Amino acid sequence: MSEILIGLFSISAIAALLALLLEVADRFFADYGEKHIVINDDKDLLIKAGRPLLFTLAEEKIYIPSACGGKGTCGLCKVKIAQGGGPVLPTETPYLNLEELADNIRLSCQVKVKADVQLEIDEELFNIQEFTVAVDKVEPLTPDIKYIGFKILSPEDGITFKAGQYMQLEAPPYKLSKESEFRAYSIATSPFEKNTIGFMITRVKEGVVSNYVHDYLDIGDTATLRGPFGEFCLRESDREMLMIATGSGLAPIYSMIQKIYREGAKRKITLFFGDRKPFDLIYHEELKEFEQSIGDFTYIPTLSRTTDKDNWSGEKGRVTDLIKKYIPDNPEIDVYICGAPAMVSSCEELLLQKGVPVERICYDKFM
Ligand SMILES: Cc1cc2nc3c(=O)[nH]c(=O)nc-3n(C[C@H](O)[C@H](O)[C@H](O)COP(=O)(O)OP(=O)(O)OC[C@H]3O[C@@H](n4cnc5c(N)ncnc54)[C@H](O)[C@@H]3O)c2cc1C
Ligand code: FES
Repeated sequence: MSEILIGLFSISAIAALLALLLEVADRFFADYGEKHIVINDDKDLLIKAGRPLLFTLAEEKIYIPSACGGKGTCGLCKVKIAQGGGPVLPTETPYLNLEELADNIRLSCQVKVKADVQLEIDEELFNIQEFTVAVDKVEPLTPDIKYIGFKILSPEDGITFKAGQYMQLEAPPYKLSKESEFRAYSIATSPFEKNTIGFMITRVKEGVVSNYVHDYLDIGDTATLRGPFGEFCLRESDREMLMIATGSGLAPIYSMIQKIYREGAKRKITLFFGDRKPFDLIYHEELKEFEQSIGDFTYIPTLSRTTDKDNWSGEKGRVTDLIKKYIPDNPEIDVYICGAPAMVSSCEELLLQKGVPVERICYDKFM
């Protein structure tokens, strides 16, 4: 038995070593020369081949949505490759459904440019810009969430975005990473602010970009942002709104609430905000104030780990408990949910059971 196990282990180790050697050889020694990337039958780019399409396009200042920085774990970097993409890789299939596979949709971070490529992308992506920014505010919001505010240095006319969208923030090479890395962060500030932009960033254990933000970025430091990306935005409708967030998932919701506040809300809005302890509740006082200043806004925070010492008289439990308690069957509402993927999925499932049509549930999962 042990001989079989040793044999299997050796074969796996040799296969892994060969794959690594091939990858190294491909990366450092293979020369694919120059190739053409033709986009939407219109733009023709002559590029140095050999790198993933996502990064090759970024060098040409065409920025495809991405949250994981090209690691193949977010599934956001989809493009249609009509020709030249090579076979679909096992790393792509978990993120592509049958319809997308049939339509030649691929993950641009997994497709290496080795031949001429014909590509189709949304024209709107040509408007995505790179911004040079300088940190102008750093504020701990909770023990593991920081607010980072930036002044936009260039382009000089600042930024235009929709409340709910996200940017990619770059961490340059440092102790946790040999290469520069980009991650997605939702904009927490009002879309009416053109020259400043802010984020709520949770520290993730061993996380490359979140730890760079928490431990290295300080007032005056410059950084690079790309965006804005995403379709988690307010929709035109007169229906009542239910907003649900946990942790830094409040960021895009807070941006939406500021927009609604500025424009003068006419719709009823309820915000369910969940976390563990009272000190985890970001902007608790500000949100209570919004209850006074926005026409029909109700803020219901809930805590999942309170003890008697916390002296908490509000709701206890998770945001899903609030859905069970407050949302009637077949409600006429639009829903916006943001935060950890498991929370978003549980809320969506409950709301569907309550009879909310799927197209009225809009969300962003933080991976
Ligand atoms: C559309 C979108 C918007 C986002 N907006 C925000 C935001 O406003 N604020 C914010 O803090 N984050 C946000 N995120 C998450 C963010 O993009 C990063 O995934 C997160 O900061 C981790 O990046 P990292 O480089 O620190 O960790 P990585 O180096 O990418 O990961 C290190 C390890 O942590 C694990 N990991 C990665 N992400 C998480 C996580 N969220 N929780 C627990 N473990 C994790 C990884 O699997 C890996 O093992 C958003 C994500 C998406 C898709
Ligand atoms: S960039 Fe995340 S899967 Fe491609």
